[in-house]
Amino acid sequence: MHEYDVIVVGAGGAGLRSAIAAQEAGADVAMVTKLHPVRSHTGAAEGGINAALRDGDDWEMHAYDTMKGSDYLADAPAVEALTQESPEEVIQLEHWGMAFSRDDDGRVSQRPFGGLSFPRTTYAGAETGHHLLHTLYEQVVKRGIEVFDEWYVLNLATTDDADPGERSCHGVVAYETATGEVEAFRARDGVILATGGLGQVYDHTTNAVANTGDGVAMAYRAGVPVEDMEMIQFHPTTLPSTGVLISEGVRGEGGILYNDDGERFLFERGYANNDGELASRDVVSRAELTEVNEGRGIEDEYVHLDMRHLGEERIVDRLENILHLAEDFEGVDGLEEPMPVKPGQHYAMGGIETDEFGQTCVDGLYAVGECACASVHGANRLGGNALPELIVFGKRAGRHVAGEDLGDPQVTAGWTPDAEAASVDTPVSLGEPWATRGDAVADGGATADTATATTVVERTLERERERVERLRDRDEGTQHADIRAAVQRTMTENVNVFREESALKEALVDIHAARERYRDVYVADPSSTYNTELIQTIETRNLLDIAEMITVGALARDEFRGAHWRKEHQERKDDEWLKHTMVSWSDGSPEIWYKPAVLRGEAKTYEPKERSY
Ligand code: FUM
Repeated sequence: MHEYDVIVVGAGGAGLRSAIAAQEAGADVAMVTKLHPVRSHTGAAEGGINAALRDGDDWEMHAYDTMKGSDYLADAPAVEALTQESPEEVIQLEHWGMAFSRDDDGRVSQRPFGGLSFPRTTYAGAETGHHLLHTLYEQVVKRGIEVFDEWYVLNLATTDDADPGERSCHGVVAYETATGEVEAFRARDGVILATGGLGQVYDHTTNAVANTGDGVAMAYRAGVPVEDMEMIQFHPTTLPSTGVLISEGVRGEGGILYNDDGERFLFERGYANNDGELASRDVVSRAELTEVNEGRGIEDEYVHLDMRHLGEERIVDRLENILHLAEDFEGVDGLEEPMPVKPGQHYAMGGIETDEFGQTCVDGLYAVGECACASVHGANRLGGNALPELIVFGKRAGRHVAGEDLGDPQVTAGWTPDAEAASVDTPVSLGEPWATRGDAVADGGATADTATATTVVERTLERERERVERLRDRDEGTQHADIRAAVQRTMTENVNVFREESALKEALVDIHAARERYRDVYVADPSSTYNTELIQTIETRNLLDIAEMITVGALARDEFRGAHWRKEHQERKDDEWLKHTMVSWSDGSPEIWYKPAVLRGEAKTYEPKERSY
């Protein structure tokens, strides 16, 4: 058994930053990751990192923009932590050698991004994530932090106390892709999940094939509530044939969206009279799809993003990567032609419920980055706020798990006295209300009263080895790819930008049917070396849970807030819905409950206002 103080699962920006922080705080750290660190999806982040660095800007303005962008569903203490600490983290990256784009006077450049009241997005061309990832990985290498790459974590080693709030996590069990070996990693102090996004639950996404929501699904099955999963971001500018991202940086630099009639529709059709193309993403995505649905789309599918007027010099200086993406994936020369774009799944605002230090309600289990929900994005994330989240909360979690006293969290994790039971009419059965409050079954684990930390890990290892053997031993059944495709299809058709009750119910029925088919799943490839079918089969189980959480939350939330548009409910209902949707695993079924959003910050309350751009 491998043994360290801290195990970090995933090696994108959040995982790397938390590993560095934990090691600096004195912990013996290892990273266990299904991809080599520099292949992580952080490398695909293009646009930038928001940080209030300049005169005329401050963290309060950044916090205000973020709360407004979230449509008042983010938790103010977490947002204020993000906006206060982002500048020092950017400066830290700069000191570690990150190749930021610079102004003529040598300062790190900043550009406008959607929903920002000040041009505060720092960037490195249109490859900011790539540079961030390499800068952090260098620091990991320099510090000698051990990285187990191409090890796919199968499960968390947690206790199985009836009340999830009394469980503890002691490590993980992982599968080595190169050999097919299943091994245990004990964590003396804690496990940090940094597994990234879940975009593969949709079939048109900017996310990499590796983004299958593994951490969210594992934490959920271990009893950690997941928060605001219905809040999915659809980025307005993705290439129609592949979902490849065309950065908001293009619009930040002055790129313009046109419909088939040549109208600059965001202004001309009144979707965003002040900010136009730089309205927040939910607004722009709905505007584009409305244009298409009303017959003003191009080839009934997309709109045009034009940057030609910016001129070759500026484009090559600041957006060169975009030229390559448009050419390579769509055959379009962005210097000569407008680029075709349409909305595509991009980001999960929700995730594993944590406090502002990344702690979940399970002792010793943390989550950071896109898989987590400290609740800095609420119902809509602002572009440029994902990368600061990775580094700010990565650092916080790393320091906390290594034992630094960071004070008391303002945002709670787990059941609280003000939790509220939900009632929602679904075509599939849900978990009993309050079942997870004290009598829930974890997906595995060992009963606490008989277990030491080591036996918890050993039992998880035994069970995961059996699970892998069972998958390998079956020689007939259904292959996972059909099941995954069915889930992606129904999510894309029914749980997209525009949502309505009947479609959400249809999706739930489809997901339930896919889950039934999964009972019969088998892996045709018997090999032990690089058996990607085996890994994808396990990922598909995670995607089933993810699809269900998103859809159940979307059906229950009968209002229109941020990215969550409901046909039958066209207004934001602040009297009823200033609360987070929580979903807990109740012996295989999702149980929904709510907890209030925290709008009170350090010095003020962010009163909900009408949100227009
Ligand atoms: O459009 C972009 O470059 C994406 C940035 C982000 O999601 O923050």
